Amino acid sequence: MRAVDIIMDKRSGKELSREELEFLIGGYTAGEIPDYQISAWAMAVFFRGMSSAETAALTGVMLRSGSSISLSGISGPFVDKHSTGGVGDKTSLILAPLIASLGIRVPMMSGRALGHTGGTLDKLEAIPGYRTSLTAEEFRRIIAKDGFAMTGQTRDIVPADRLLYALRDVTATVESIPLITASILSKKAAEGAEALVFDVKFGSGAFMKDAADGEKLARSLVDTGTAMGMRICALLTDMNEPLGNMAGNFLEVEESLDCLEGKGPADLMEVTLALAARMAVMGGKAEDAEEGRRLCEEALASGKPRELFLSNISSQGGDVKRFLELRSSWRSPVSGEIRAEQSGCIARIDAWKVGHAGTMLGVGRNRTGDAVSPTAGVRFHKKGGAQVKAGDLIMTVWAGDEAGLRESLPQLAEAVEYAPSAPGPRQLILKEIV
Ligand code: URA
Repeated sequence: MRAVDIIMDKRSGKELSREELEFLIGGYTAGEIPDYQISAWAMAVFFRGMSSAETAALTGVMLRSGSSISLSGISGPFVDKHSTGGVGDKTSLILAPLIASLGIRVPMMSGRALGHTGGTLDKLEAIPGYRTSLTAEEFRRIIAKDGFAMTGQTRDIVPADRLLYALRDVTATVESIPLITASILSKKAAEGAEALVFDVKFGSGAFMKDAADGEKLARSLVDTGTAMGMRICALLTDMNEPLGNMAGNFLEVEESLDCLEGKGPADLMEVTLALAARMAVMGGKAEDAEEGRRLCEEALASGKPRELFLSNISSQGGDVKRFLELRSSWRSPVSGEIRAEQSGCIARIDAWKVGHAGTMLGVGRNRTGDAVSPTAGVRFHKKGGAQVKAGDLIMTVWAGDEAGLRESLPQLAEAVEYAPSAPGPRQLILKEIV
């Protein structure tokens, strides 16, 4: 077999076999096939796509490039959730203890902020002392104790994806549905997920800018995952506005605790409960999403998910007492405000502009390895649909430093879109894909 022949076949739209993909990806991971040939192949995939069988074969090949987590010895069921990423999206922090309180185990391996999207690990690390790089043994022990654990990916999980993703990032081949599908699903399968609920986001703050592309990605994830023997469903959810009223690392942990105490903002609770209801069904605790939602609402009212959240902080090295003392007061001393420039109605606060401003504030990062600030971020006092008078406070902004504040304020002011009259209610959950 020669890499150049495989690239030529893909360039002319041919379906590649498992053996050919194994040769290509295996050779690349072993350092035998150079970056430039894999770049050419990725670009051919970008333009030509892949069949479902080919996507499933690529996912399997990538999965086998590294090791898998074993959860044997811990009683299930195990259900995970994966979001394709957005701004203010802290649903994982609420869902993990909520679903664990129903007796379903949630093994969560999450990522860091990159570009305009936030990262669960950066949020958790804003809790004083909280550790997100658990050993496999710690991960298993904490799941057995609290029902869930939250960790970063270990280096030996899908090494092919680490190499390939870095290459796609610099060769304009990230936005390919089969490549995204294989990248996400290979990691989820290696993490031991048997059942998985995807939150596929669309809109300005999402990877997929329109709903039609979001739906194609959701369909590809569901079909490929199902072909690999996983139980999968996906919700297509709106990410045109940040989710909830806080965007920032410590701010989002605080807002997650508010949600667990029954004080969460309506949009965040709607998306969280829709995902939770499906996780309850996947975990065999409910017949349908309606029953799942009722169970989750009852669990929240019982206070058990809040207890598990605090117990997990302590299990992962965090200081619960300090965290509760800092709640509502730990903010960067560098702050500013965004006030309404006109009277009328806010049409929306553009999620992409907020996410982009967030990288200047220190909430997120432009390059892997950049430091983030725990206390930078934005609190939204008004969002889409609100009536305002000129001068009303719309956002409070905290920055890691003065330069970040100066740079981000114009971008945040621009994120506020006005309308002459109130827009209709936003449909947050567009559809379910099974
Ligand atoms: N997230 C991933 O893990 N992989 C992709 O390809 C895109 C988003």
